[in-house]
Amino acid sequence: MTVSETPRSLIRLDAIPDGGFAEVEADVEGSAESVLLYREGDAVRAWLNVCPHAGRRLDWAPGQFLKTKDGLLVCAAHGASFELDHGECVAGPCRGESLRAVPVRVVDGEVWAAG
Ligand code: FES
Repeated sequence: MTVSETPRSLIRLDAIPDGGFAEVEADVEGSAESVLLYREGDAVRAWLNVCPHAGRRLDWAPGQFLKTKDGLLVCAAHGASFELDHGECVAGPCRGESLRAVPVRVVDGEVWAAG
């Protein structure tokens, strides 16, 4: 998957809580898409905010995502649970499917689309 040809800052790293999430709109393959960002220290992983089960957003309100004590992201629609290394669904109605990764990188405290 490619993001826009010209990388641009999506959000400041410190605007994402460590171990938490943020939601931004990004140009993905030419269209504006909601993107879910997950921060772990200085690392950020990103996926489309689209659940592989029924195509719904994963957040229960914009930018508000559910995370279990075990560190799984839970889709607010029907409860599919995703591990946060690769975005694979490990429990729920789309078990074995994965979120669609969006390439990002962190430079100078900013998260950039890395298309
Ligand atoms: S749309 Fe996410 S679990 Fe159904």
